[in-house]
Amino acid sequence: MPKESTRPEHVAIIMDGNGRWAQMRGRPRLFGHAAGARRVKEIVRACPDLGVRYLTIFAFSTENWKRTQTEVAGLMRLFKRYIRREAQALFDENVRVRFIGDRVRLEPALVDLMDGLELMTAGNSGTNLTIALNYGGRDEVTRAARRLAHDVAMGKLDPREVSDETFPRYLDTHVLPDPDLVIRTSGEARISNFLLWQSAYAEYEFIDTLWPDFSPEVFAQVIGRFGQRERRFGAVMA
Ligand code: FPP
Repeated sequence: MPKESTRPEHVAIIMDGNGRWAQMRGRPRLFGHAAGARRVKEIVRACPDLGVRYLTIFAFSTENWKRTQTEVAGLMRLFKRYIRREAQALFDENVRVRFIGDRVRLEPALVDLMDGLELMTAGNSGTNLTIALNYGGRDEVTRAARRLAHDVAMGKLDPREVSDETFPRYLDTHVLPDPDLVIRTSGEARISNFLLWQSAYAEYEFIDTLWPDFSPEVFAQVIGRFGQRERRFGAVMA
């Protein structure tokens, strides 16, 4: 049944525009990513007041490896630094952190930090922050299908039980509700392989603001607009 709530419980964000933000200031792209990381902090903090229980952010896609070696290495350094510096504050603010995406290609030092932060915040009951790192929607669905096929081959799952209720249990997001609202910053109107299965009924907001300029005030405005939308989930409302 459609949810009555006018506030999105789960907001997912494609944080785009860091490079252009830096370029406009005559600075290297990594300067924009560092500014973007500071915004992440503020946006996570804004969630409780806005009623957002789940926040999922797209930090690095399976396609982002195609960027220059300097940019990829800089981003990996930034993720490690973010986890080291923010772990205690996230814990104190009752944030529960999870990571989605394929960890196999990530360097072990980063994976250790990710595991540590997940473990450290596992008992927290406030905002659920999910960071998509080396994440791609098709890759996630493919990995899920592989695990499901394995369970069928092992006799753990009857093929007749495969349905749109059982399949998502194999996705990285299996413990999360589907997103109600997906926001993409920087004026691009694409979903770029983000939460493909999960966003089937999500509302989308494509806004011109570049991610480093996405303030808590802009976030609150977007959430406010969501409240004015009528969500039908394929049904006809009386
Ligand atoms: C897209 O902007 C942004 C990324 C690929 C990286 C997102 C990373 C952050 C916001 C930084 C840190 C995140 C965490 C979780 C600490 P772009 O570089 O494609 O921008 P452009 O389209 O203007 O070039």
